[in-house]
Amino acid sequence: MNDTLGRPLRNLRLSVTDRCNLRCEYCMPEDDYVWLPREDVLHFEETSALVDVFLSLGVDKIRLTGGEPLLRRDVAALVQMIASKPGLKDLALTTNGVLLADQIDALKAAGLGRITVSLDTLHADRFKALTRFDQLDAVHTGIAAAHRVFGQLKIDTVVIRGVNDDELIPLVEYGRSVNGEIRFIEYMDVGGASRWSPERVVSRREILDTLTQHYGVIAPIDESGSSAPAARYALKDGTTFGIIASTTDPFCRTCDRSRLTADGMWYLCLYATRGLDLRAPLRQHMPVDELKALIARGWGARDDRGAEDRLALGERRAFVPVQDLLKKDPHLEMHTRGG
Ligand code: GTP
Ligand code: 5AD
Ligand code: SF4
Repeated sequence: MNDTLGRPLRNLRLSVTDRCNLRCEYCMPEDDYVWLPREDVLHFEETSALVDVFLSLGVDKIRLTGGEPLLRRDVAALVQMIASKPGLKDLALTTNGVLLADQIDALKAAGLGRITVSLDTLHADRFKALTRFDQLDAVHTGIAAAHRVFGQLKIDTVVIRGVNDDELIPLVEYGRSVNGEIRFIEYMDVGGASRWSPERVVSRREILDTLTQHYGVIAPIDESGSSAPAARYALKDGTTFGIIASTTDPFCRTCDRSRLTADGMWYLCLYATRGLDLRAPLRQHMPVDELKALIARGWGARDDRGAEDRLALGERRAFVPVQDLLKKDPHLEMHTRGG
């Protein structure tokens, strides 16, 4: 199952809700949003049925995302339905961590394999300014719980100039203290990032320079052949971290991921403006073979290189004008697509 650029279909990001309990400046900066209609949101049985089709086509990595996936009632039940499916090698979850401590045991028991928590700052006042909620302590508690129950985790940090770019070293140290591998993410001009501007992007080069000044030589970890978005590095003491340079050095040429929104729209690129509706055929009881052929045709025709196209533009502004985002289509939003 390769697309037109020879990229296999392997990695599926399942958004289970478009709702979120934070309002991160780079993702949901506005006051009001149009939400997906509740009746459109797939039931777990429907999601599970689609997952079976994707697995039969070669998907072997699944990540649950949101909005905030832990807002979906009893998400552990979905984990349980998916975790033991044949062919699945990796089941992970990306969360903002606020509700994690309460759910961690159920998630582990249900068969979740890995956890990534988003954390952009270690300062309570900044956290509040960045997310509009005073929840840093809850995130710390969630991370501690993930450390306790899973032994390790990943921590995603979007680096924004003038906001948290002075916290790279404290974040690496914090990561070490909780056995969390920090991944610094370049600020992307996707979906709701209406406050994006080129000046606010801190590039991989700059991130590496800052860390090298403090830690000395940093060794790249050779993972050639990997389709992961993060390039990984090791400090002299063995501490590892990653950088996701989606803005200055996109990984489109090896991108094997697609995303299913909570209402069953299938997107082949984070930047895609159009998706394929899988909810309608599913609810009309399309036979599995036809559903499989529909998805196979979609992937076979895929030629998306969204982040590379953006880079090639040279002059960039926010991807979708904010008035379009708010009034027209929730599907254009990062919080609907799952980050
Ligand atoms: P691993 O399976 O551990 O490699 O996780 P991951 O990196 O796929 O998942 P995560 O949710 O932690 O994603 C980290 C960041 O990578 C996101 O927040 C995005 O900034 C970026 N990212 C994820 N998917 C895509 C994608 O399809 N395209 C681009 N350009 N960036 C992406
Ligand atoms: N740029 C980079 N990453 C983003 N995310 C959301 N919006 C952006 C953006 N504009 C990522 C965050 C969060 C994940 C769910 O989505 O890293 O950790
Ligand atoms: Fe922040 Fe994630 Fe919620 Fe977006 S979906 S506002 S990045 S916590």
